[in-house]
Amino acid sequence: MDIRVTDGDLARQQVPAVVVNLFQGVTSPGGATGAVDAALDGAISGLIADGEIRGKRGEMTLVHTLGKIAPARVLVAGLGERSSFSGDTVRDVTAEACRRLRDIGVSTVATVAHGAGVGGMNARDSGQAIAEGALLGLYRFDRYKSGTDDAPSLDEVVIVEFDAGKVDEIRSGVEKGILLAEAANLCRDMVNEPANRFTPTRMSEIAQDVAAKCGLEIDVIDEDRMREMGMGALLGVAQGSVEPAKLIVLHYRGDPDNAANNLGLIGKGITFDSGGISIKPAANMGAMKGDMAGGASVIAAIRAISALAPKINVTAMVAATENMPGGRAQRPGDVVTVMNGKTIEIDNTDAEGRLVLADAVSYARTMGIERIVDVATLTGAMITALGDVTTGAFGSDQPLVDAVLAAGSAVGERIWQLPTYDDYREQYKSDVADFKNTGGRAAGSITGAQLIGEFAEGAAWVHLDIAGTSKTDRLKGHNPKGATGVPVRTLVRLAEDLAPAE
Ligand code: BES
Ligand code: ZN
Ligand code: MN
Repeated sequence: MDIRVTDGDLARQQVPAVVVNLFQGVTSPGGATGAVDAALDGAISGLIADGEIRGKRGEMTLVHTLGKIAPARVLVAGLGERSSFSGDTVRDVTAEACRRLRDIGVSTVATVAHGAGVGGMNARDSGQAIAEGALLGLYRFDRYKSGTDDAPSLDEVVIVEFDAGKVDEIRSGVEKGILLAEAANLCRDMVNEPANRFTPTRMSEIAQDVAAKCGLEIDVIDEDRMREMGMGALLGVAQGSVEPAKLIVLHYRGDPDNAANNLGLIGKGITFDSGGISIKPAANMGAMKGDMAGGASVIAAIRAISALAPKINVTAMVAATENMPGGRAQRPGDVVTVMNGKTIEIDNTDAEGRLVLADAVSYARTMGIERIVDVATLTGAMITALGDVTTGAFGSDQPLVDAVLAAGSAVGERIWQLPTYDDYREQYKSDVADFKNTGGRAAGSITGAQLIGEFAEGAAWVHLDIAGTSKTDRLKGHNPKGATGVPVRTLVRLAEDLAPAE
């Protein structure tokens, strides 16, 4: 899709449809909405007076212009209460408007820069949020459905700004929005792919591709090297599968003379989680094709980070393997040794995420990474606690936790911190090893997080549990049903925020 920015008068655009907006409670619209209303002899204000248009967030009213202006249709998009207006409103409303117009066969649409007027948003942020909303909201994963190649598509969005002085600003926002949305969509593609087509090997090929296109260094560690390096926890999970595991490591060097200015983004990359010998129930097991969402998010994030080029060194690492109940699979009761020499008793083979991350985090520490953010679909308990709305954050270093929370809030991805305390360590003590890989039902997300944190050894560490937020089971604003691409935009923003000002 193409997103253009131009100055001029919205009502005069030679396009099949335009989108204007309205805050809740406004009875006589101003700005572009007012201009279009006047050109339509008060059709919009008439519908407001009749109570059909109320400006409620997400309300979409299609008005036919019957030759009064060049565009045959005007879509009036409700922005909701002015007091709750944000970038997220623009993303969601743009997404909904684009989908509505695509569904009625419109391929080109012109719109105003929502919020840049009375909304009080700066023009750049508005352009960015519109680009994100259009690209995220129109996303479809239909490559395995026949007959979708010629499905109607919306190919062009033109942002029309009355004030020519704002066009460049909007344009730079649009560019950034495209970059971020395309990264989130790359993540979504990986998460939506079925596990038979998206193996650890395939994931490493995608990473190779990203590395080649972005000029990133890459190292894909195979099982022989994992064995030499002593990654017993990752190998233990992998041994039940015939698909070879891969530890994927990508480096972006934005501050090559200052190696200590670094950030490690470490993703859980379980391309299918059957549970292993502690096998999961059949119902909904297919959803576990998405158990590599954390890994997908760090690959997608480093692609966008390298394009934005912040002054910071970022390493993205994915511990990629299946968790399968093969004849060689690890058993409950087994003891594995992590790369740093610590041992873990396997109490439940379905608690595999913390195992593969233990080795990945240990490895990151040997590379001298001082700030670590791991991202994982780690626990069902996270869904119980926060649903599919909010990502859980856990960490050893409050400034880094705060930076992650701030990044999430800046990009509109909800994240909430849960506590970590030494008291919880009791729950994952083992009789035979240094730790066991479960901590009981109580505080399941916290004990899972903390076991990973045990391997961060002195680094600032944050864990994001995206078990609930990596997917949605229904269309929700800018997120179509399926993978959401969370937390790609947060991770990119974090790298930008942590980069020292130049
Ligand atoms: N991948 C799952 C967690 C999960 C569940 C993600 C539902 C998304 C949706 C993880 O590997 C797992 O199985 N966790 C277990 C841990 C338990 C055995 C300690 C869980 O949450 O039940
Ligand atoms: Zn899992
Ligand atoms: Mn599991």
